Amino acid sequence: MATAAAARALARATARPVSFRTTATRSSLATLSRPAYRQQSRRGYASDAAPKSGSSGLIWGLLGAAVLGGGGYYLATNDLGAAKKEAGPFVPKYEDYEKVYNAVAKALEEHDEYEDGSYGPVLLRLAWHASGTYDAETGTGGSNGATMRFAPEGDHGANAGLKTARDFLEPIKAQFPWITYSDLWILAGVAAIQEMQGPIIPYRPGRSDRDMSFCTPDGRLPDASKEQKHLRAIFGRMGFNDQEIVALSGAHALGRCHTDRSGYDGPWTFSPTVLTNDYFRLLLDEKWQWRKWNGPKQYEDVSTKTLMMLPTDMVLTKDKGFRPWVEKYAKDNDAFFKDFSAVVLRLFELGVPFTVAEDQRWTFKPRVSST
Ligand code: HEM
Repeated sequence: MATAAAARALARATARPVSFRTTATRSSLATLSRPAYRQQSRRGYASDAAPKSGSSGLIWGLLGAAVLGGGGYYLATNDLGAAKKEAGPFVPKYEDYEKVYNAVAKALEEHDEYEDGSYGPVLLRLAWHASGTYDAETGTGGSNGATMRFAPEGDHGANAGLKTARDFLEPIKAQFPWITYSDLWILAGVAAIQEMQGPIIPYRPGRSDRDMSFCTPDGRLPDASKEQKHLRAIFGRMGFNDQEIVALSGAHALGRCHTDRSGYDGPWTFSPTVLTNDYFRLLLDEKWQWRKWNGPKQYEDVSTKTLMMLPTDMVLTKDKGFRPWVEKYAKDNDAFFKDFSAVVLRLFELGVPFTVAEDQRWTFKPRVSST
């Protein structure tokens, strides 16, 4: 644990120029620069970020209880000999979701035996693949349902390896049985980004789990061997434009490819458990060549041959619509964080019939410290 924590600290210290996150001019919580949070407390539990309470929150709570509680969880009070009275269905509140957030963050911290020291990247990939099946035209797919629990969706080639992430979350689901899998997977994605020092991602609960008849057909997620036309078709189907495709792709600062999952191999950056704009910087600053190997076509960096880029990554530097955004994010980590937060928030909410208003989203304070 100490070794991985030290490795992450080293990565943070070496991966970025010291000035990269000093701008604090943005006003919304979604884009607050992280040091501001970290100065407040280290490994703290937040209680200062609760949403405004109001009638819409109450309405949401009552409606949400019907969906989330599934009728199964009731609280009863018994005050000193008084007749036991039903307190009604358990309505999970901000504090309850915050406990789940903190449990995920703690599990991430504790289970640093996983590759590169963190389950964070694979958790983020789970949340993205749960959401990225959305089809705006038919309103099918998206993060509502958690249908990847079932074959055939769980067995789709694109989802290879994500059982690792689902299994990681099982003990947390057991600890908080009132939360739906679909809300849990997305909350875990939020925690993964924030605990890997990414921006704050506002969150709303309200997803319900659905049966296997809601599984989406194979082929809705992007194919890494393809070009810009494919990327625009896949992300356009979800409702995303060029700028958003590029911002979302910045997630590849995190994690790595596995020959036994996608067939591809290796990490995109030198600090795969810390979210930075390094993916964009490396795309532009490094020289890339086709890797000569017995595997699918991928790029390797000429100088170290330890990093990789997928064909779909490299396309972002070649296409006229994508490239200006790569250049912008390579120069400006704050701009990347701001846009990444906004687009991930939208991604994670695709296909969800929320009963809580957009201005009632919650934010959770990261447990991780920057030092
Ligand atoms: C642009 C289209 C995209 C393509 C073609 C693509 C493709 C891939 C592939 C092939 C892998 C390797 C999987 C493995 O072997 O384990 C991967 C990993 C990953 N992807 Fe993407 N991806 C795309 C977009 C995204 C987006 C939008 C996100 C999140 C917002 C994301 C987050 C991740 C993460 C975090 C990993 C690392 C997982 C790990 O370390 O286990 N990707 N992606």
